[in-house]
Order: sequence, then C-alpha cells, then structure tokens
Amino acid sequence: MSKQLRTQKKDNIYVLGIETSCDDTCAAIVRNGTEILSNVVSLQNEIHRKYGGIVPEVASRRHIEMIDIVIREALEKAGKSLKEIDAISVTNRPGLIGSLLVGVGAAKAISYAKDIPLIAVNHLEAHLYSNLLENPGIKGDFLGLIVSGGHSSLYLVDDGWNISEIGHTVDDAAGEAFDKIARYLGLGYPGGPIIDKLSREGNEQSIDLPRPMIDSGDFNFSFSGLKTALIYRTKKNSELLEESNTPDLVASFQKAVVDVLVHKTISAAKETGVDRILVSGGVAANSRLREELLKKGEENNIRIYIPSLYLCMDNAAMVGCLGYFKYLRGLLDDLDVDVSSRSDL
Ligand code: KG4
Ligand code: ZN
Repeated sequence: MSKQLRTQKKDNIYVLGIETSCDDTCAAIVRNGTEILSNVVSLQNEIHRKYGGIVPEVASRRHIEMIDIVIREALEKAGKSLKEIDAISVTNRPGLIGSLLVGVGAAKAISYAKDIPLIAVNHLEAHLYSNLLENPGIKGDFLGLIVSGGHSSLYLVDDGWNISEIGHTVDDAAGEAFDKIARYLGLGYPGGPIIDKLSREGNEQSIDLPRPMIDSGDFNFSFSGLKTALIYRTKKNSELLEESNTPDLVASFQKAVVDVLVHKTISAAKETGVDRILVSGGVAANSRLREELLKKGEENNIRIYIPSLYLCMDNAAMVGCLGYFKYLRGLLDDLDVDVSSRSDL
C-alpha cells in the first residue's frame, strides 16, 4: 500500500532504480528524475537462448546471482555511495513473480538497512516515463503505446500523468509474436531484433498476410492469428521454409505487425484528439515500426516520441525516473509492499 509522506526538499535527488521483472537484471542511478548517472543491464539472452524463450525459474536464479553485482556497479559508475541515495525505486508489477521478488527483496533489504525510502513502481508506467529521460519537458495530454514481450497496449495520459488504458492485446503481445515466429523458424531468441535485422534483406510485400483487427472499431490488438496465418502458409507451401525465403517471410510478417500497430495508434490519437504519442517497450526498438510511426505522425501532424534503443528495452533508468516523480509527490511504500503479475495501472 502506498503511503504519502513528506519528502526532503533538496537541490539534487538521487534515486537508485532496480528492475528485475523479466529476464534482465538492471540497476541505475538517476539524478533529479531525468539525468542518468549510470544504467547497468545484465542480459540473460545467452542463458535462455537454448530453450527458445524465458524459463522463469532460471531467470529468477540468475537474478539472485547478479543483483548485488549490478547494484554495486550502478553505484560505482555513478560515483555514489548508498549514503547519498535519497530513494530506492523498484519494479513490483507486472512481471514474473520469482523475478520481481529478487529485485523487490534487494530493494527492501537496502531500504531497511540504510533507512532509505522505498518506492514500488509499475513496469509499464516506467516504460512510458522512459521518454522523459530524453525529453524532460513532455507534458500531458498524450497517447501512450507500449509494445513489449508481454504487452501491447494503448493509454490516454492526462496533464497530471494520470493513465487510463484504452486498448490492449486480446491474445499475444507484439513482442511475443516476434519471439514465437523466430522460434518456429529456428532463428533464435529474442526474436524481435533477429527478425528486424533479417527483414532488411527481404521483400515485405512478398507474402500476403492478414492485418488482424485493423478495422475492429476499438483500440484492441490481436497478434495470435497472424502468427497462425504465417505458420499455415508455410505448411501449405513448404518451399517458404527454405533458408533463402526466410528474409521475405519475416519481412512480410514484420510489416503486418507494424501496419496494425501504426494504423490503430494513429487512429486512436485522431479519435481521442491528442497530437502527441509516446512509444515505448522492447518492440519500440523495431526499425520498421519507428520509421512508419514517424512518417505517419508527420503526415497527420502528430508528434511521435520514441526513446533511443537502449531505453526502449528493459532498464532501470526508467524505473529511477518514475520513482523520482513519485518521491516528489511523497508516494512512498512500506516494507510489506508485495509483488504482482497484474498490469493494472
Ligand atoms: O520491454 P522488453 O525489453 O521486455 C518486456 O517487458 O517484455 O521487450 C522485450 C521484447 C521481446 O519480445 C523482443 O523480441 C522485443 O521486445 N524486441 C523487438 C526488437 N527488440 C526487442 N521486437 C521487434 N523488433 C526489435 N528490434
Ligand atoms: Zn518491458
């Protein structure tokens, strides 16, 4: 349960951000919400690659091995000691429970031992805040698009950064679809960056695939049928599975995902009357999505914000950023704060 406390007024506020909601162990030091002093990410891709996806039990064990090392490195790189940290901000939802518990456990231990205020934050909200790290002046109202391995959602954000969800995926998330197709084609894990790269050598018009729910009249997405359509096409025409056809196959798949995301996001902005869109989450690193969104934004007089690639992927700087703004409002948490797999904002 969040509590409201009076927080210290100082010139510089240093927040230690901790992020372990999925498979990356991350810690960062952020000054005054938007200045990144350090941003350490320990990836687990190599470990999960052989399974073709994240194995939750393996992820949490690796977090346990890495969390102290990563936090120490973040402090060292920032040239700070725990004595100088004003608040610890940690992702406590949504995510894999075993993974979240490691970050939250570490945050609670430091908070208790060093008497530093604790702030629990929502991973999706932190993704939206990642845009502030490069554009500190962004104010509401705007539309938020979060596209990651676990989520594909649209949010309306008002001038007080109050967030309401207006759409979500009814089945797979966009990143999940990329990962599943890459696994099906034996391309490796995580699928998104691999498909992004391979697509540059392919013809995205070569294979006709559906654009699920593109005209559904709501702001929801669906990517499971697209994945099934591609698999069905390869079963009907096994030549498509030859290595030389892979770039065409994945480029066509990527274009279908991008078309749906861009069309629905731009339509949502127009229908809700906002002229700015903030994009974030791992899939926001996709080069074709970035390109199309920027193009369609310009055509429709809508300003598109997308963070640099390293801030689209999971990181703790965004957690430190959101933590700072909660700290300013005195929104601190008790040591009994729990973790949750639910995404409610
Ligand atoms: O936000 P994130 O790092 O973790 C979650 O919160 O899920 O997103 C990870 C997802 C994975 O599904 C990965 O395949 C996808 O983002 N991804 C991409 C790209 N880079 C990462 N998808 C498409 N194109 C990319 N370049
Ligand atoms: Zn994420």
